[in-house]
Amino acid sequence: MEPDLAAAHDDGPVRVLAVDDEPAIREAYRKILVGRGTPEGHPLWLEGTGALFFEEVAWGPTHQGLELVLCDSGDGGVEAARLAVAAGRPFHVVFMDVRMPGGRDGIEAAEAIRAFDGRAQIVFVTAYMDQTPDDMVLRVPPVDRLFYLQKPFTAAEIRQFARSLSAKWRVERDLQAHQEGLERLVQQRTREVERSRLDIILRLAKAGEYRDEATGRHIVRVGEYTRVLAEALGMDAKFVRLVSLTSPLHDIGKIGVPDGILLKPGRLTPREFRIMQRHCRIGADILQNDPSGITNLLRHLSLEETEGADNPIIRMASSIALGHHERWDGQGYPGGIRGADIPIEARLTALADVYDALRSPRPYKEAFSHEQADALLAEGAGTQFDPDVFDAYRRKSTLFDELYRTLTA
Ligand SMILES: [Fe+2]
Repeated sequence: MEPDLAAAHDDGPVRVLAVDDEPAIREAYRKILVGRGTPEGHPLWLEGTGALFFEEVAWGPTHQGLELVLCDSGDGGVEAARLAVAAGRPFHVVFMDVRMPGGRDGIEAAEAIRAFDGRAQIVFVTAYMDQTPDDMVLRVPPVDRLFYLQKPFTAAEIRQFARSLSAKWRVERDLQAHQEGLERLVQQRTREVERSRLDIILRLAKAGEYRDEATGRHIVRVGEYTRVLAEALGMDAKFVRLVSLTSPLHDIGKIGVPDGILLKPGRLTPREFRIMQRHCRIGADILQNDPSGITNLLRHLSLEETEGADNPIIRMASSIALGHHERWDGQGYPGGIRGADIPIEARLTALADVYDALRSPRPYKEAFSHEQADALLAEGAGTQFDPDVFDAYRRKSTLFDELYRTLTA
């Protein structure tokens, strides 16, 4: 008994295109594929130019089982395949004669079909050996979608190709849909993780400034200033994003500074100042160290692979917390490191932090105007601040003033 074509699938007809210039061969395809029909429905077969098929035929449930389109030329086959794709009903299997007179030959037609339907499975059917299967694969890749059948073929060969390649086509389609679904899910989960991470960072930054009300929206502005500086220095988009996200955490270590010092209205004594200076290391410690083995916990929950202190956000936040009071000339704290040894993100934050501190009123000083702040920053160029960072600031100083005004509410 012949294999039942309809049994090869469970969602719609097997769609076959057969191209051959010989009327007898086309008739053979028709008899083999359509002649016996299918138990579930009435197979459809059509012969003529592809352009007419899809305009005139109302595809419907009566065509369950098999849809066969026969074409007598390479050009006709390409057109039929193109219309099928446009109609959202691409062929699963294309039987393609190789030698055909006039217009495209079979290989050229297959190349043309490949250009718009990468998933088409093409079976070259030929009596000639002037093109070996190897040659054909080279011209019409990929190899897993190209097949070869010697004429004269048998009915069993044609039916088996149609059945198995259609099943393969569906499996690949389902796999692809599954993979796309997984990718969407991963993207969605990544966005959720990212959102909660940002949320936590902003809350942490807010907690850091909570006791020190005078700073107002200082942290938000510092984030914006560092973004402007990083862009002006031509840093890549990832760095720009990271630095603007993490610089607001620069003073998170002030959580560990006693109220009597942090909130003192007057100037700090040298001893108090030394205690205040600890906020850099405390901040780096809060960010860098793994609190209570949370990395292991996340790994255990399969939430993160190698995150924790390796997380680029945490790493940069920690670097900024530690280095934002270092000076270009090495006279800063806590490390007294100098020049390019100070991470660039800390050099950016240093200038941003000082600009904002100058503009803001403090218990021990008035707010300075933009011009006053600008002049004071200029004094620190090359000593306190990286000269390149200062240049970047100079180019964008108007924007700094605008940001201060807009983000001071
Ligand atoms: Fe600080």
